[in-house]
Amino acid sequence: MDTPSRRINIAFAKKKTAKQQPCSFIIFGATGHLAATKLLPALFHLESCRRIAKNMTIIAFARREWSLDQWKTHVCDSLKDKISSQQQKVILKQFLKRFRYQQGNFDDLAAYQQLADNLQCESSCTQTVFYLAIKPTVFSTVIKNLELTGLNKPCGTSRIVVEKPFGRDLNSARTLNQLLHQSFNEEQIYRIDHFLGKEMVQNLFVFRFANTLIESLWNRNYIDHVEITVAESAGVGNRADYYDQVGALRDMVQNHLIQLLAVIAMEPPCSLDADELRDEKVKVLRSIRPIHSNQIDEYAIRGQYAHGSVDGEHAAGYLQEKDVKKDSITETFAAVKFYIDNWRWSDVPFYLRTGKRLTQQASMIAIRFKLPPQQLFRATPSQTVAPNWMLLSIQPEKSMKIEIHAKQPGLGMETRITQMDASFLKNNEQSLDAYETLLLDIIEGDRSLFIRFDEVEMAWQVIEPILEHWKEKATTTAIPAYPAGSWGPKEANQWFSNQNQNWRNTL
Ligand code: BG6
Repeated sequence: MDTPSRRINIAFAKKKTAKQQPCSFIIFGATGHLAATKLLPALFHLESCRRIAKNMTIIAFARREWSLDQWKTHVCDSLKDKISSQQQKVILKQFLKRFRYQQGNFDDLAAYQQLADNLQCESSCTQTVFYLAIKPTVFSTVIKNLELTGLNKPCGTSRIVVEKPFGRDLNSARTLNQLLHQSFNEEQIYRIDHFLGKEMVQNLFVFRFANTLIESLWNRNYIDHVEITVAESAGVGNRADYYDQVGALRDMVQNHLIQLLAVIAMEPPCSLDADELRDEKVKVLRSIRPIHSNQIDEYAIRGQYAHGSVDGEHAAGYLQEKDVKKDSITETFAAVKFYIDNWRWSDVPFYLRTGKRLTQQASMIAIRFKLPPQQLFRATPSQTVAPNWMLLSIQPEKSMKIEIHAKQPGLGMETRITQMDASFLKNNEQSLDAYETLLLDIIEGDRSLFIRFDEVEMAWQVIEPILEHWKEKATTTAIPAYPAGSWGPKEANQWFSNQNQNWRNTL
């Protein structure tokens, strides 16, 4: 069962009060990219904050034939940027004591049996977390083997964490969900979307639901449109074997961007209980206006990066990247326009865009307000006033800004735009990555920041027509290219519902 939601604790930084339970944390795919870049640093950070129980063991399950010492060297390498002070070295020493290494192929039942035997020796009734940091193609093998060795039903509680993408379309998502449910019940399943763990995304809940000031403006009467941008300057890197099969729409829009949209658009929940929150998000997803097949080109734009320059350095095109098929038509940029057909949002466009090798790394939500009903300053030197914007920057900067008009000092009636600027971090406050919060939630059994299956289903339903249309076009139409280091294909700048609307690229 879920513990009562800790969300309110998160909002008001009361995490220290949570209970610390003994736990065996098993990472499948422990030698992979996700474990090295996100999971190990986050676990180390939790260790530094003394947020993990003294008797928690971390078991790396991976294919490489490594000894425990080789694994520990790998952990140290993954954390080398985080260790500088003497104190951090002491914490690292403590951290390394937690590890065990279980070598095995994912289809090797004997390795699971060995894992089960070792878990039993360590402690009979503990909490077990299975974190699938593996390619979606091996999910089913691991899930079946966990069941065959009884690891899904240990004496204590067990939880399974599934990384996105959850399926590659609606049908495969349903199949995966059925498979999970054959071995685990819903309370044990944690479908992760790490964007929900980002501090500014959690701050969105607080911003919306702890401030009456905002609520009165948060609707179709005052908001002209909403833009959600997740721009990355990095290319596909060494993940092409995964990414080339997936593309930007599945990799980012189906999950991260649609979740951001749901948090912006949802109604206030009755409480911060996990299911109350998720009920409200699902209602938003259900209200998204379906896009008809003959309208897709009007609502969705794709693109693929060609060579160009990023941060003053030459950047290769997507087709020249390692492990990318030379004739790949995978999109590295996607922009989609959605309407939410409910009382609050009727006719307010939500523009979503994401891409790799764009001009800068910037994840932000830009909300443009409507113009005042009367242009009172038309006859003054100010003439037409520009609309107000609310800008919520998720990363790298974490801030909230509101642009308003103010009079310029002096004798004339001229106005200028002033930004009310609230940085998220003050003085020496340290920001967390998304995974610390989420890992702690998993260990403590709080599912409010994890995705329920009806959310997954609705998100696939929303984007599937676009995926199908792009698949059909593949043989007849070339994918639009954009130079690396730009803001994406030029088509993405010409598709707004209203000619006064355009992308907000700066904070
Ligand atoms: C992942 C995507 O889910 O999110 C990646 O698979 C993307 O392609 C990443 O780069 C972005 O997340 P973050 O936290 O690094 O901004």
